[in-house]
Amino acid sequence: MAGEAGRATVRSLGEVSEEPGRMAEDVRAGLLGVPKDLSPWPKYFYDAEGSEIFEEITALPEYYQTRTELSILQAKAGELIARTDSRELIELGSGSSSKTGALLNAMLEAGDAVSYVPFDVSESAVKGSAERLREEYPKMEISGFVGDFDHSLERLLDHPRKDGSGRLVIFLGGTVGNFTPERRREFLGRLRGGLESGDYLLVGLDLVKDASVLEAAYDDAAGVTARFNKNLLHVLNRKLGGEFDPDLFAHRATFNPEESRVEMWLDSKVTQEVPVKSLGLEVPFDKGEGMRTEISTKFTRESIASTFDETGLRMLDLYTDDKDLFGLALGEPA
Ligand code: AVJ
Repeated sequence: MAGEAGRATVRSLGEVSEEPGRMAEDVRAGLLGVPKDLSPWPKYFYDAEGSEIFEEITALPEYYQTRTELSILQAKAGELIARTDSRELIELGSGSSSKTGALLNAMLEAGDAVSYVPFDVSESAVKGSAERLREEYPKMEISGFVGDFDHSLERLLDHPRKDGSGRLVIFLGGTVGNFTPERRREFLGRLRGGLESGDYLLVGLDLVKDASVLEAAYDDAAGVTARFNKNLLHVLNRKLGGEFDPDLFAHRATFNPEESRVEMWLDSKVTQEVPVKSLGLEVPFDKGEGMRTEISTKFTRESIASTFDETGLRMLDLYTDDKDLFGLALGEPA
C-alpha cells in the first residue's frame, strides 16, 4: 500500500515561541528610530493574514520571483543532484514544500534511501507537507522539524548524517534578501558552521534588474502588495494595542540603487499621533513622513560570491533563468 512503507516524523526543536516582550522591544526600537524602520524584523508580516496575502503575491503577473525560481529548479534539478550527489535534502523555511518536488524526484531517480528534512517555524506547515509527501513518496524517509532560525539552526544541522553521503541544504524564495547585511552574514555564517565537507548549500536570490521591473513587483496594479504592507499595521494593532488607521498611510515601493534593494515604505498621509498602548507610546508622524517596513535585496553574481566568501562559503555556480531574473546559488564550505 502506498504510504505504508513511508516514514514521516515531525519533531519540535523547541523554543519556537518568542521570548515574551521581544516583539514589543523590536517595534519600540523601530518606531523611535529616524527614519522609523520596521524592516529589520520581516517576520512580523507573516501572521495568518499576511501569509495568505503573500501567497496571493506569488501569483501576480508583476511578481516574477516564485514562478521563475520554480522553473529554474525544474530545469536544473537533475544536474544539481548529480553534481552534489546528495541523498539528503534539508529545507530551511520549507513552508508547504511546494517547490521541492523537482529536487526530490531527481534524488529518487538517482537511487533509494533518500531523506527529506523540512524545517519551518509553522508546525502545521511541516506536518501538512510531511503527510502529503509521505503519500506521494512512500520510499522516502521524511523527518520534519519545527523551530526557528534563531534558536534551532545548530540543532537541526547536528542531526545524524546518512553515512557517506553529503547533504544539500536549501533556502528558497529569496528570503535571504529580507535580511539586513549584518543579519545575512550572521545567518550564513551560522549555517556554514553546520556544514561539513561534502555538504552543499543552495540559496534562492533575486537579481538586480531594471528599477521599473523591480518596483512593479512590489507595487502591483491590483494593490495586493499594498495590502500586504498595510497588514503590518493590523499586526501592530492586534499584538501591541496600536491604533494605526491603514487608510491614513500610503504604500510606496522604491528601488534604492546604493543599497541595491527594493524598500517598502508606509507614508503618513496626514500629521497624526498614533497610540501604541502596550508600548506606552504616542507615535508622531508628520504629513508625508515615511516608515520603512521591508527591504528586499537584489544581488549580482559578484555580490553573491562575495557574501559567500565573507561567511566561509565558496560559490560554485549560479543557476539562472534565460532572462537572468532570479538566481539559485550553489555553495560549499570553503
Ligand atoms: C518572501 C522575501 C521573497 O522580498 O520579495 C513580496 C516578500 N514582500 N512582496 C520578497 C515580499 C513584498 C518577499 N520574500
